[in-house]
Amino acid sequence: MSEFSSQWLALREPADHRSRNQALREQLNELLTRSRTADSLPLRIIDLGSGTGSNLRGLSPHLDCDQHWTLIDYDPKLIEAARLALSAWADTTESANHSCLHLRKGDKQIQVDFLCTDLSKNIELILEQPADLLTAAAFFDLVAEPWLERFCSALCTPLYTILTYDGSEQWMPTHPADEQALRAFHAHQATDKGFGLAAGPKAVDIMQRRLLEYGFQVSIAPSPWELDQRHDAALIHALATGSAQAVGETGLLDAATLASWKTARQEAQACMIGHWDLLATFGS
Ligand SMILES: C[S@@+](CC[C@H](N)C(=O)[O-])C[C@H]1O[C@@H](n2cnc3c(N)ncnc32)[C@H](O)[C@@H]1O
Repeated sequence: MSEFSSQWLALREPADHRSRNQALREQLNELLTRSRTADSLPLRIIDLGSGTGSNLRGLSPHLDCDQHWTLIDYDPKLIEAARLALSAWADTTESANHSCLHLRKGDKQIQVDFLCTDLSKNIELILEQPADLLTAAAFFDLVAEPWLERFCSALCTPLYTILTYDGSEQWMPTHPADEQALRAFHAHQATDKGFGLAAGPKAVDIMQRRLLEYGFQVSIAPSPWELDQRHDAALIHALATGSAQAVGETGLLDAATLASWKTARQEAQACMIGHWDLLATFGS
């Protein structure tokens, strides 16, 4: 099981929210406005690999209606952290039971159901659930190509997925070991993250091809992290530390080079980390 700490997810949340591609989000809004027939009912959204609920906090203010989110993650600690983070974020919170919250945020009512389950095993069952929209953030680079094939063939709901890592990185200043370290990082990205050998940076390309084959209309748009020391020092430091650990686990860099690269990256002035957002819909 690959573990993500709630501290890391909280650290990346502001960068994740500001990096989402706004034009694609507007395209999603137009789609939802056109396709919704019963405006009085809450919009039903299922979020895959929901962590502490960042995607709900990032997207729901841009949706002009009441919402019913189902947050799915296999890590019970993150589900509990999501309950706490969403309760703190909302204007008012009522807890119906341990797996359901009723939130009010601004003029919207948001019901949140939590489901703790392993998506590597039962994605087809999840995709059978009634929903208006399926979402995910920073999730699809973890999955494997055969799982993506299963996912795309069973998908029957519009899909909006954001911040899938595309493998491109630029760091300032550069370091002589950048290229070697990035190759090692990509090798680590392609190891098994619980779904088989991970698609990593190839995930968006694979999804796009498969979804087109299954008759979806697919739009993709870039959503890079653009980080600098002044605003994002803690995130740059944590990102560099995590990347260096992954690179170290591959054994592809000698210890001295790795140590020098890690220090340079932790103190980098700025960096760009490439991601893509993707919207898949039926019809025009
Ligand atoms: C990079 S985090 C992103 C979390 C959240 N979407 C966000 O944007 O902050 C990936 C998430 O996927 C979850 N995850 C990974 N493998 C999973 C699996 N097999 N089943 C369910 N959730 C999984 C992790 O627990 C983690 O919360």
